[in-house]
Amino acid sequence: MLLFKSVELLQNFLQKKRKEGLRIGFAPTMGALHRGHASLIKKAKLENDICVCSIFVNPTQFNDPKDLEKYPRTEGEDIKILVDLENEVLFYPTVDAVYPKDLQIPTFDFGQVDKVMEGKFRPGHFDGVVEVVYRLVDIVQPDRLYMGQKDFQQFTLIQHMLQQMQAKTKLVVCPIIREPDGLALSSRNVRLTPENRERAPSIAKILQQLNDWIANGLSIKEAETKAIAELSKMPDFRPEYLEIVDGHTLQPIEKMEASDYVVVCTAVWTGDIRLIDNVILKGNKRN
Ligand code: PAJ
Repeated sequence: MLLFKSVELLQNFLQKKRKEGLRIGFAPTMGALHRGHASLIKKAKLENDICVCSIFVNPTQFNDPKDLEKYPRTEGEDIKILVDLENEVLFYPTVDAVYPKDLQIPTFDFGQVDKVMEGKFRPGHFDGVVEVVYRLVDIVQPDRLYMGQKDFQQFTLIQHMLQQMQAKTKLVVCPIIREPDGLALSSRNVRLTPENRERAPSIAKILQQLNDWIANGLSIKEAETKAIAELSKMPDFRPEYLEIVDGHTLQPIEKMEASDYVVVCTAVWTGDIRLIDNVILKGNKRN
């Protein structure tokens, strides 16, 4: 595997490969790699000639400085995982390389898509995500960009960004990889207390039950309220939001019939760890 820290050297290398007609897949990450990240890299390798994985803990997307400070950093293990996956290129830039002083990022109009759910509870978070993904995509110029369904609102925004840029890069969304007990893999899971780790799979279980509750006569609003009540029953669990939304616009819906693509998204505090998860309830299922 080749490791680049320099933007210029990476771009020179990729330019040569592009001239040879090779297709480039790109999986941006913040490291602390797990099987969720690995699934993106495996798919990128299958569908392209070269996979570029980036590891960059992006300071501008952490609305809580404590979260940035505590974000797991496991450089040695990450490199071993990438070598085992036979990933071709690792981009491991410094903050100054990603954000040079003269950097200009265009502004995008996301309408209401970045105002709800994560956007509402993590002010500024998506500005940072869009900024860094724009910059990384601009550096790598990939044919395909690989992102996880785990961060539903994130990939939806990036899809909008690519459309507005009229980019040649195609977004490929990969299904959520879960532990055998159903907990969605996340770099933050290692920080759960043993008790909360045991309880955490209930989040996915509750989300998966929503279709049955609605089929059995609950309205969307009633089903959301019941799910929030179930989550709140667990000691040390505090749901921040749980919303059944249209999967394209991320706006709340009142009836399942109102959309061909319905997803339930939630964020739950478990102690001082914030977990997010989602389940596609209708259409386009990747769960
Ligand atoms: P990070 O949390 O490291 O995730 C990198 C990519 O892995 C994202 O596209 C995310 O959706 C995907 N991913 C995480 N957990 C997953 C799981 N259990 N199953 C499948 N895919 C999963 O998301 C970010 O980093 C950052 O915001 C980033 C896009 C890199 C910008 O800084």
